[in-house]
Amino acid sequence: MNTSALAHFWALIPAAGVGSRMRADRPKQYLELAGETIVEHSLACFLDHPQLQGVVVSLAFDDPYWPTLACAQDPRIARAEGGRERADSVLNGLQRLAELGAQESDWVLVHDAARPNLARSDLDLLLAELADDPVGGLLAVPVRDTLKRAGSDGRVQQTVDRSLIWQAYTPQMFRLGLLRRALAQALAAEVAITDEASAVEWLGQAPRLIEGRADNLKVTRPEDLDWLRQHWAGRR
Ligand code: C5P
Repeated sequence: MNTSALAHFWALIPAAGVGSRMRADRPKQYLELAGETIVEHSLACFLDHPQLQGVVVSLAFDDPYWPTLACAQDPRIARAEGGRERADSVLNGLQRLAELGAQESDWVLVHDAARPNLARSDLDLLLAELADDPVGGLLAVPVRDTLKRAGSDGRVQQTVDRSLIWQAYTPQMFRLGLLRRALAQALAAEVAITDEASAVEWLGQAPRLIEGRADNLKVTRPEDLDWLRQHWAGRR
């Protein structure tokens, strides 16, 4: 692929979550994978990219782990303060990007700190597909399994039609101005938003789904990390 045809972009990594479902002694983005922390792998794909303009990482204010990493000294990476919810952390990060010189019309790619297996081919696909898009969009994967709606008694109430259901992954790619407006308004209205796209949808816009690799998984449970460790050991 000719990378000069890809959009220039900023990266924003919300990394202020605790990740309690991992039941680990530290936030999941600081667990080890193949000799580095998960967040270092999540950053690597962006730092290697020639179209990158800069990176902001949103961190908990008392985070003792980040300063110990080599990437904390990387001049391309700036810090922002994390917030109560993911959306607050992203909004703070967007503000920091604007202070660094990012323009309203610049593309921002928001990527989970705990999603370390992003393939360069997926990143380039997203940048190429959305370069001229009026709204933006996200990497996503059509669901594979049959879906059940459960009742509070743990029994199946209904089998859900899965043909139009996708799982939302990251990166999610939006213009800084649109995303900032969407998040600020959705937070003010106390709407439940679990990703950037849902804030943009709430504004009445329709982000595009770009089919990516299913192995760009977010580390959520201990078995996700076990799988990644085995997968990466097999790749070497
Ligand atoms: O908890 P979950 O896996 O959904 O978090 C997704 C991403 O959002 C993680 O990278 C996490 O560190 C980040 N996050 C954040 N600020 C919060 C909550 C989550 O930056 N308050």
